[in-house]
Amino acid sequence: MFGRKVCGILCFVLALVLAGGAMGDVYIDQEKPEGWEDQYLLRIYALYSLDCDAYVLECDGETMILDGGKNASYLTEFLAAHDISHVDMIFNSHPHDDHVDAVYNAIRTGKLTTDVFYSPFRENYDDAVDTFQKRTVKLLNEKGIPYRQIFSGDEFQLGGARIKVYHYDGQTKKPNGGSMMINDMSGIFWIRFGNASILFTADIGGTIQQMLAQEYGKEGLKSDIMTAPHHGKNAMNGELLAAVSPKLTIITGKVARVGACQKQMEQNGVAWKVTSWGNITMETDGKDWYVNQEDKFGELKKWQKQQERKNKKKKK
Ligand SMILES: [Fe+2]
Repeated sequence: MFGRKVCGILCFVLALVLAGGAMGDVYIDQEKPEGWEDQYLLRIYALYSLDCDAYVLECDGETMILDGGKNASYLTEFLAAHDISHVDMIFNSHPHDDHVDAVYNAIRTGKLTTDVFYSPFRENYDDAVDTFQKRTVKLLNEKGIPYRQIFSGDEFQLGGARIKVYHYDGQTKKPNGGSMMINDMSGIFWIRFGNASILFTADIGGTIQQMLAQEYGKEGLKSDIMTAPHHGKNAMNGELLAAVSPKLTIITGKVARVGACQKQMEQNGVAWKVTSWGNITMETDGKDWYVNQEDKFGELKKWQKQQERKNKKKKK
């Protein structure tokens, strides 16, 4: 097992050296090349959801869940279909139900176990309008799952993928003097695998988006793929979009409510996908990405046909 892992990592590093550190491409809804699956890959699933964030990540035999969404059945059906009942780690961006409820219920009903549960919120975090932290921590204690608080700048490894945490806590002073909401205090996760990268922005608001871009943009938030902050309910801060400059944005909000975000992506030449069409699978070999989506309700096909018609009209 160890030999296979070391060999996998070495081959992966060698492939990247040969690739010369070139920026890769994001291939959307296209056939994967022959032999793709035999490579050392980071695989990320953005699960079907409506106004929820639910991601499962796999790399070199290690698995993690990032948030997990609200509806436990979507998560547990996915885990069962992939024969997963245990993950190496769970990261929770913030203790709102649309980010932690499914994981809570999967653990409660015995369908999921984990080595560790990470959150940027302190264990005894208590907000008058939020009850999900207390009950989550209580359940983790009952199940003997360690709760670990994480901090801005912390780094973790999932197989060969590196996870960096950014976080603005309740003490953060906003330039406009506004108060920090739980959404603003979401953990932000920047994941790199070879030369490939993806940024998960959870539910951070516009001011925090701008602060993130200004503080860390130069250091390198630049990513091939990003998630639209707060499910894409609004257009994102322009400075953040410029700093990340993604080729694809994943939007986890209901289609009818994310028009401003879609429009912003189209105006900036960024492809987008909504999780309400079905599960999205993103795979990278450390250079290129192949992104494919299941068409749960036939809406993806409808949209693709609309695009074809639009493109034909443009050509005329
Ligand atoms: Fe949310």
